[in-house]
Amino acid sequence: MKTETSIQGLSASLAPARSARKTIGFVPTMGNLHEGHMQLVREARRICDVVVVSVFVNPIQFGPNEDFASYPRTLEQDSHLLAENGCDILFSPSVEQMYGKQPRLTNIAVNLLTEGLCGAQRPGHFDGVAVVVTKLFNMVQPTYAFFGQKDYQQLAVIQQLVQDLNIPVEVRGVPIVRAEDGLALSSRNGYLTPEQRQIAPKIYASLLAAQQQLKQSESLTIVLEKLRKSLTDAGFVIDYAEARSPQLQTVTAFDQDIVLFVAAKLGNTRLIDNLQIRYTD
Ligand code: PAJ
Repeated sequence: MKTETSIQGLSASLAPARSARKTIGFVPTMGNLHEGHMQLVREARRICDVVVVSVFVNPIQFGPNEDFASYPRTLEQDSHLLAENGCDILFSPSVEQMYGKQPRLTNIAVNLLTEGLCGAQRPGHFDGVAVVVTKLFNMVQPTYAFFGQKDYQQLAVIQQLVQDLNIPVEVRGVPIVRAEDGLALSSRNGYLTPEQRQIAPKIYASLLAAQQQLKQSESLTIVLEKLRKSLTDAGFVIDYAEARSPQLQTVTAFDQDIVLFVAAKLGNTRLIDNLQIRYTD
């Protein structure tokens, strides 16, 4: 595996693959890699000739009171994991390499899709994601790019961005990887105290309970009320617990496929999860 920290170095490393018309698979990350990320890397390895993974903690997608400074940076450990899982090129640019010295005057706002859920709680977050992902796409020029369904709204935003701006990449979504107790793997799980870590799987358990209630024909309104109550009773402070269509439109009843979304805090740690529920199952 090669490691590149400059855009020029990345281009040079990719040149042979480009001239040989090989397929390039790209997995953007912020590092502190775990099995969730590795699933994306393995999927890229399975269908692409060359696998590129970026590790870049993107300052412009963090709000002023968020964890940019304390976000875990574990590049050496990440590098070992990536080499073991079939990554060919690790791209880990500095903030200066990514954003340069001149002020950035261009923004990318994917409207509507970013209004609710995490977009409402984290103003500017998805603009920051859209900008960095567009820059990375331009640097890597991948054939395929892989994103986790863990960040369902982010995946939807990227799909819209790629469609709206005709970015020549095929975006693939990869299912959520969970710990044995059901907690969706996340770099932020490391912030949890042992006591909080015991409580954290209740998000997924509550989502599963909600699914079962819906399948037993309880109304969506009641099910969402129960979901919120079970999270609050477990000790979470809820940011949102909502149902949406797979395209993120608001829904009022379980009369079509839906996705349940939760963002909830344990102490200062914000966890997100979601569950896709098919109407016809
Ligand atoms: P990060 O949080 O590091 O996540 C990188 C990718 O890994 C995302 O596509 C995310 O959805 C996926 N991922 C994380 N945990 C997962 C899990 N448990 N199961 C499946 N996939 C999982 O998302 C970002 O970084 C950034 O916003 C980024 C897209 C890199 C832009 O800065």
